[in-house]
Amino acid sequence: MRKKIVAGNWKMNKVFAEAETLITEIADALDEVELINTEVVLCPPSIYLEMTTDVAEEANFMVGAQNVYPEDSGAFTGEISPLMLKALKVDYCIVGHSERRKYFGESNEFLLRKVDALLKHGIRPIFCCGELLPEREAGQHFDVVKKQVEESLFHLGAEAFARIVIAYEPVWAIGTGVTASKEQAQEMHAYIRQLVAEKYNAKTAENTTILYGGSCNGKNAMELFAQPDVDGGLIGGACLKAEEFMQIVTSL
Ligand code: 13P
Repeated sequence: MRKKIVAGNWKMNKVFAEAETLITEIADALDEVELINTEVVLCPPSIYLEMTTDVAEEANFMVGAQNVYPEDSGAFTGEISPLMLKALKVDYCIVGHSERRKYFGESNEFLLRKVDALLKHGIRPIFCCGELLPEREAGQHFDVVKKQVEESLFHLGAEAFARIVIAYEPVWAIGTGVTASKEQAQEMHAYIRQLVAEKYNAKTAENTTILYGGSCNGKNAMELFAQPDVDGGLIGGACLKAEEFMQIVTSL
């Protein structure tokens, strides 16, 4: 049975003391719930990764980075390598978020390099894909997502691909308060799973965790997560308060 995941992408939020409080609150709250076949992943800004992995050693969550540079070391001022993440015992790393594609010009080819660099060091990519509003309005959403997945992931062999988590994040739903309907989410998740089945095999597709992201919150998580191909969420704004994040976690 594939794993369910709720991951919180903090983006560029929280100063140190706030981060410490949020991590502690979530760790304490997770002690009070029983999660079956479900992983919670916190993805704080990189400056807080060490603190987060320290708490994670005694707590019931995993840790993800928000970004990585696809080289082990070298003259790449300001960047963080997969080796550094590995040394901190980081489990996951977000790759291909639409904000990085948009503001930092990250291409499918560059994202492929990140995927490979992470897998080389045993860190699991959470690979984001999703269409812009005009692309959906033009009926191109399936083609856009297919191209993103094919060009950054489908060079992998089946064994390596089994380490990938996919997050479908329609760009028009991110930070807008406009979530995809449960039908839109299910339709795209089923499509992605079908792509994986065609490229690899039915078993690999069945075992792939596919998350939904985009204005997912405590109120709408349950109906989104009830869809057969929605295996959890990648949460932005609603992960910044422990209570709402926990409401989402317990909606799985
Ligand atoms: P919001 O939940 O704030 O819409 O952000 C989603 C997201 O981008 C998670 O990576």
